[in-house]
Amino acid sequence: MCVRGGARRRAYGRPAVGNRPYRDPMRMGPHSLMPGDADAVKGKRLQRVALARAWQFAQPYRGTIALFLSAILAAALLALVPPFAFRAILDDAIPDEDRRLITVLAIVVVVAALADAALAILQRWCSARIGEGLIYDLRLALFRKVQRMPVAFFTRTQTGALISRLNNDVVGAQTAVTSTLGSVVSNVVVLVTTLAAMIALEWRLTLLALIVLPLFIIPAKRVGRRLQAISREQMGVNAEMNSQMTERFNVSGAQLVKLFGRSNDEVDLFDRRARRVRDIGITSAMYGRVFFVALGMVGAIGAAAVYGIGAFYVVDGTITSGTLVALAALVTRVYQPLTGLTNARVDLMTAMVSFERVFEVLDAPEAITDRPGAVDLVAPKGRVELDHVRFRYPAAATVTVSSLESPTALGGADPDRDVLADVSLTIRPGETVALVGSSGSGKTSLASLIPRLYDVSDGAVRIDGRDVRDLTQESLRAAIGVVSQDPHLFHDTIGANLRYAKPDATVAELDEACRGARILDMIRELPDGYDTVVGERGYRMSGGEKQRLAIARLLLKNPAIMILDEATSHLDNENEAHVQAALEHALRGRTALVIAHRLSTIRDADRIVVLDDGRIAEEGTHDELLARGGLYAAQVFAGESALLD
Ligand SMILES: Nc1ncnc2c1ncn2[C@@H]1O[C@H](COP(=O)(O)OP(=O)(O)O)[C@@H](O)[C@H]1O
Ligand SMILES: [Mg+2]
Repeated sequence: MCVRGGARRRAYGRPAVGNRPYRDPMRMGPHSLMPGDADAVKGKRLQRVALARAWQFAQPYRGTIALFLSAILAAALLALVPPFAFRAILDDAIPDEDRRLITVLAIVVVVAALADAALAILQRWCSARIGEGLIYDLRLALFRKVQRMPVAFFTRTQTGALISRLNNDVVGAQTAVTSTLGSVVSNVVVLVTTLAAMIALEWRLTLLALIVLPLFIIPAKRVGRRLQAISREQMGVNAEMNSQMTERFNVSGAQLVKLFGRSNDEVDLFDRRARRVRDIGITSAMYGRVFFVALGMVGAIGAAAVYGIGAFYVVDGTITSGTLVALAALVTRVYQPLTGLTNARVDLMTAMVSFERVFEVLDAPEAITDRPGAVDLVAPKGRVELDHVRFRYPAAATVTVSSLESPTALGGADPDRDVLADVSLTIRPGETVALVGSSGSGKTSLASLIPRLYDVSDGAVRIDGRDVRDLTQESLRAAIGVVSQDPHLFHDTIGANLRYAKPDATVAELDEACRGARILDMIRELPDGYDTVVGERGYRMSGGEKQRLAIARLLLKNPAIMILDEATSHLDNENEAHVQAALEHALRGRTALVIAHRLSTIRDADRIVVLDDGRIAEEGTHDELLARGGLYAAQVFAGESALLD
């Protein structure tokens, strides 16, 4: 349906990623984008802005977040119960031979364990609700946003990168709220409560236990940083691998690989990437393990130190053996939150990168929007007017998110040339105008201005005397039907593809539209009729059949204005006769702009407009133009196909 020449050309014309040093656009967080001090400050400011916005998204979950944090706090306090119970057993119950107290204390410990388990489940319930809820919210917001993006956005955007924002980054962003926020709060609470309890028990031993900490925290900080870098690299190489798969596993990609005999090169490329994924996976696993082993070791050394030195205190009678046991139990709970907190900032920053990548898409400029106070186009008569139209394709910055663009896309260069210069043309209601001109003269571009897939750079496009920018996009597009050279069908049944134009169409209506488009007989011959699945992986319709189906779809839509962009090119004679008949039916009583290069299509038009390098060179009926002996006549005499090439 839409005019996407640029994208197609790019996708087929170049051996995509190739072997140039790969700059993954998906990994351009603020860090990789901004080296240098001044930029780092800017990065921090950005982070703060992102943080504030992230909080906006978390707002609806305020209540659940409060419950979540309360559960964390309660669990941290509850964890102090067993050490103190053990101390009471050793210091009071055993010496006093108080059997009742022993039983009570044992029950207290069991109840604490049960309550702790309940709290753990409550915590998970909260974090799952918050996390999944956020994922849902962000995804929906992104999908909505993408629906509003102009065509130009899609011609420049790497689909895989965009999908990854909706899949991975959204998940990464929610971890900022659930796991990072949760672990920071729980670490702070556990640290404060445990330290307070330890100091209350015996401050000298507590200090002693803390002395070993710097030995660990400083290297831990390093390892944590490295681990972050590794996991970011891991995301990057995974993305590279995935984008190769998404590009090569669709029908046209696979065909291209085969026809150019590049299978082995593809395997090599994939091998290199998958190998990187493997190697980084191993490195990451090793760093992670070393980190935790070291943490466990420090815990063990701490406990040993507490016992080793504390035992002398017990012998001296400074502390009781119960206090010693309680201290030893508590000391192991101090190291983990401390190391966790040393890396909290980096953790948070990493999680924020995902949020920023989501916001980046949400904030992308919406080049084409309904103007405030835009009105509906009601009962369109179909008068189309181009008034001194100048058009140049929009600059990248106004339509795309640069990190979503393919590194090989159009070289990122902005178009510096007017595609249309001062074009004025009026098509009266019901008139059929044929637009001809050599390839690249701007025919498709001109046609795309009418349904406002792009906005004019200067001048105006009017329908029934109203500037298309003053109309709601929905009503404007309802009034216009487009058949392009290669119409798109969704991977769905024929019926569903037709009903895309009119969801409540009855079978009788489908029949009528298909009869008009000269495709009914063909559909009836299919074993499943309207239930036949078409599209890339379904029943492969021929070019002519697809075009007639697309015309049937338009007949259901019943627009006042029809635009056919080379809808009859590449058809053999028999197919063409069918399509021609379908078109004749479709165009009856409608305003039509027909871009064509077949003389048979052109000759029937009420008027022919010849476009040459973005300007109207000639205008008139077939006979008038022939008599005039200009560009058109020259092309016709040179043979009809020369009108295109
Ligand atoms: N998405 C795009 N971005 C930038 N330039 C484009 C884009 N699409 C087409 N062009 C350029 O605009 C000019 C006119 O293209 P087009 O309207 O497709 O011509 P035609 O349909 O007559 O063959 C060409 O030079 C083409 O390279
Ligand atoms: Mg074209």
